[in-house]
Amino acid sequence: MRIDVVTIFPDYLAPLELSLVGKARSADLLDVQVHDLRTWTADRHRTVDDTPFGGGAGMVMRPDVWSQALDDVVLGPESVLIIPTPSGQPFTQRAAEELAQAPQLVFACGRYEGIDSRVRDRAVARGIEVRELSIGDYVLNGGEVAALVVIEAVARLLPGVIGNPESLVEESHGAAGLLEYPVFTKPAQWEGHDVPEVLLSGHHGKIARWRRDESLRRTVLRRPDMIAALDVSTLDRSDLALLAKHGWQPRNGTLTQELPAPE
Ligand code: 6GU
Repeated sequence: MRIDVVTIFPDYLAPLELSLVGKARSADLLDVQVHDLRTWTADRHRTVDDTPFGGGAGMVMRPDVWSQALDDVVLGPESVLIIPTPSGQPFTQRAAEELAQAPQLVFACGRYEGIDSRVRDRAVARGIEVRELSIGDYVLNGGEVAALVVIEAVARLLPGVIGNPESLVEESHGAAGLLEYPVFTKPAQWEGHDVPEVLLSGHHGKIARWRRDESLRRTVLRRPDMIAALDVSTLDRSDLALLAKHGWQPRNGTLTQELPAPE
């Protein structure tokens, strides 16, 4: 896969040299190019922004500079243009799986109040897939950190990047729609905290059931929205019994939380 990042702060992307993404680059599984947006300015001050039409606080990034940059960087009709913005659609594991199929991802990292909206419209009109993505319900100063997040989530899904692809199966936000169970390593007894007995038993069936119960319990407590999104046909009788203890009842193929009994 080829990834291009256009930004006014190329140094912000330095972590892409490290760890898993850095190794994927060294192994030629991933080609990452970071570009300084100011390369495409024409004036002496290398201006990338201007005041917003309609008034209001802050500055908006100029469409002419951005369109010149994207014309040079976007390689073809199969490329996906990603515009990180707090007003985008939520970035999810499903989105990461889809993006991992593209031959090229181009990140347009905005600063200030964002990029003139016609940059997006022009790319769409030219048949380029554009995704405006948010990494959560909070505001960052620009798209660079969000680009790092999306690149790491996508890179680890590329063939050959993770040594043992089994580790992609059971993790949080995988196919089961549940959070991951807690994990432990040696020593079995440590500072008065013992590893759960069942994990030392060697009984694979009991271990699988314990892990499934812990996943369900965690998800009930931390992410009721994920419980409500479960497909009941993927749940067994033990799952349903545990969920019932927490007030979740199956109804029309999904789960609903029972209201507390009236006085
Ligand atoms: Cl993608 N960009 C910015 N600037 N802030 C954000 C975000 C993105 N996602 C959440 N907050």
